[in-house]
Amino acid sequence: MMGRPEGLKLIDENGRRIDGRKKYELRPISMEVNVLKNADGSAYVEWGKNKILAAVYGPREIHPKHLQRPDRGILRVRYNMAPFSVEDRKKPGPDRRSVEISKVIRGALEPALILEMFPRTAVDIFIEVLQADAGTRVAGIAAASLALADAGIPMRDIVSACAAGKIDGEIVLDLNKDEDNYGEADVPLAIMPMKNDITLLQMDGYLTREEFMEAVRLAIKGAKAVYQKQREALKRKYLAVAEEVAGNE
Ligand code: CDP
Repeated sequence: MMGRPEGLKLIDENGRRIDGRKKYELRPISMEVNVLKNADGSAYVEWGKNKILAAVYGPREIHPKHLQRPDRGILRVRYNMAPFSVEDRKKPGPDRRSVEISKVIRGALEPALILEMFPRTAVDIFIEVLQADAGTRVAGIAAASLALADAGIPMRDIVSACAAGKIDGEIVLDLNKDEDNYGEADVPLAIMPMKNDITLLQMDGYLTREEFMEAVRLAIKGAKAVYQKQREALKRKYLAVAEEVAGNE
């Protein structure tokens, strides 16, 4: 949300956005699981110009030991932006924003995990943003959720996520960087689609109550479309495994 260059229109007279999308259209999304040899689970997501890698380790023994919980496992999340992921080089290491995003992503994913099955252990998720173009927290959640499934960690549901927002007075799906910068509001959301449980809901900017409800409804629809893509990515992995097994028989 910043002062926009004079004359810049985010929606043209034909109702098209700067990248050619319609109001309710997602950016192109591609997903792949099992992309890293040395992690227990991993996923790579391209979502518009975002490029995000997620790696999962665990459940494994916790260090330092005083963090252990006798009744359940714990989830730790690190969201990190590569120095080359944004236009102005990002100073390496954690900052306020990445600490906050790590925390809300942890909160978005934790309800899906059956951590009671793994007392005294930790599941660690590393989300590496290689290229950022707005919506990295929702894309990071989608990637992390796939990496958790790839690691075989018991889950109640796959967590899916998407944002909606307001640009030029209209509620639209999935803001890109220019829309995020020069738009009026952004509402990222994560859900567990099977039960429609919302596990993350944030808002940046200004919306009326009605606009907020519209944005939430739209973001849920977007997240459900993302969910289908996540399921397809997982199915592709298991098809590949099945083919490999068949080939060895
Ligand atoms: O990425 P997300 O929308 O979840 O979070 P944000 O804090 O609203 O950031 C929006 C976008 O601003 C990021 O996706 C990056 O493209 C950009 N950004 C940046 O250029 N430099 C930073 N240090 C942080 C964010």
